[in-house]
Amino acid sequence: MANASGFLTPSVPSLKTKIQPSTGISRSGFCFYRRVVCSSSIEGAEKHVSPSESRIPKLVSKGCKLVGSGSAVPSLSVSNDDLSKIVDTSDEWISVRTGIQNRRVISGKESLKNLAVEAARKALEMADADPNDLDLILMCTSTPEDIFGAAPQIQRELGCKKSPLAYDITAACSGFVLGLVSAACHIRGGGFRNVLVIGADGLSRFIDWTDRGTCILFGDAAGAVLVQACDAEEDGLLSFDMHSDGEGGRHLGAPMSDDKTKELLGSNGSVLDFPPKRSSYSCIQMNGQEVFRFAVRCVPQSLESAFEKAGLASSSVDWLLLHQANQRIIDAVATRLDFPQEKVISNLANYGNTSAASIPLALDEAVRSGKVKPGHTIATAGFGAGLTWGSAIIRWG
Ligand code: ACO
Repeated sequence: MANASGFLTPSVPSLKTKIQPSTGISRSGFCFYRRVVCSSSIEGAEKHVSPSESRIPKLVSKGCKLVGSGSAVPSLSVSNDDLSKIVDTSDEWISVRTGIQNRRVISGKESLKNLAVEAARKALEMADADPNDLDLILMCTSTPEDIFGAAPQIQRELGCKKSPLAYDITAACSGFVLGLVSAACHIRGGGFRNVLVIGADGLSRFIDWTDRGTCILFGDAAGAVLVQACDAEEDGLLSFDMHSDGEGGRHLGAPMSDDKTKELLGSNGSVLDFPPKRSSYSCIQMNGQEVFRFAVRCVPQSLESAFEKAGLASSSVDWLLLHQANQRIIDAVATRLDFPQEKVISNLANYGNTSAASIPLALDEAVRSGKVKPGHTIATAGFGAGLTWGSAIIRWG
């Protein structure tokens, strides 16, 4: 019979081993471990964070600006011809239908975390900032290498000594735009000054490499941008527009699935509901045509709304930088918004769809090549699983 919390108390086996309490809450609100359990964690926590050091939110800034970018990609390059050796496809089909020619795939000892750290370091270097300047790290990813998130490990690898808050944002290919907007909210309303926004994904690990409908599309990468507090006149986030549609989510996902081989049977042969079976995520399942239609319908609408909120005509914006999913989607949106080809940023041919990494990766390349210069305005939009989509009008530098 279920109690008020919904637990089936009589049939749940009780734990025989008595667990000694090992955690507590400090006066500053931080959770710590007893010295006997994890002495190194405690020493670090005591050294870096004390109640007097804990962050007191202050309204200190009206604006935020993008001051540095970085990116990193895996070493293994997989061409369309390489893919045609493992699935029934061709370079011509992939190039014509998507615009993609190559993609990078994590292999060997490479990890998403290390790509994210490399991108972050480059962004800090460009901004002439130090990891100890950071107040917040936002890791936008749907593929962390730990179910509890990647951001704190990135914070550790960067060597941030002041224990800045670090957490993950999951919004698929819209993740980076949401991360930018979140950074602005933290800066404008929370007293944060330096926020590192990382977009990184390793979708190659969640692809069925025998499914030609999906495996040709995706690649792995990381990109990062440092967002810094500034005066209102210098504000670099001119407007944004964000949406979700759970109803449409059925067209694109990688849902969790139970491992049927691990089912436990009761004495009468029936499948037991408890303990729960070990679960894992299935490979990406996508109705490509529906996602295509969604993107070419919703992205222009969202950008038009963002232009209106910013009080800008699309013709006065320097660059269009969309999530890099399919060149036909990019072209359709550009045509709808009257953006000439020379104002459209695209590096899709080299990397495929890198999910949350695609916008910061393309932005970083455009900044480093001198295409995007300080003061340039960029209309950017992400879209993808969820479904989620969103756009932002930003100013670089
Ligand atoms: N090689 C050769 N033929 C193929 C391949 C392939 N890799 N894939 C599909 N085909 C075949 C199909 O079987 C079909 O054959 P049929 O006519 O005999 O049935 C034919 O090509 C046409 O297939 P469609 O699916 O209609 O092809 P389409 O032009 O729609 O292109 C694509 C497919 C590239 C997936 C496109 O629909 C697309 O880009 N959709 C959007 C995907 C997207 O943007 N995702 C972004 C979000 S990702 C995220 O959030 C994680």
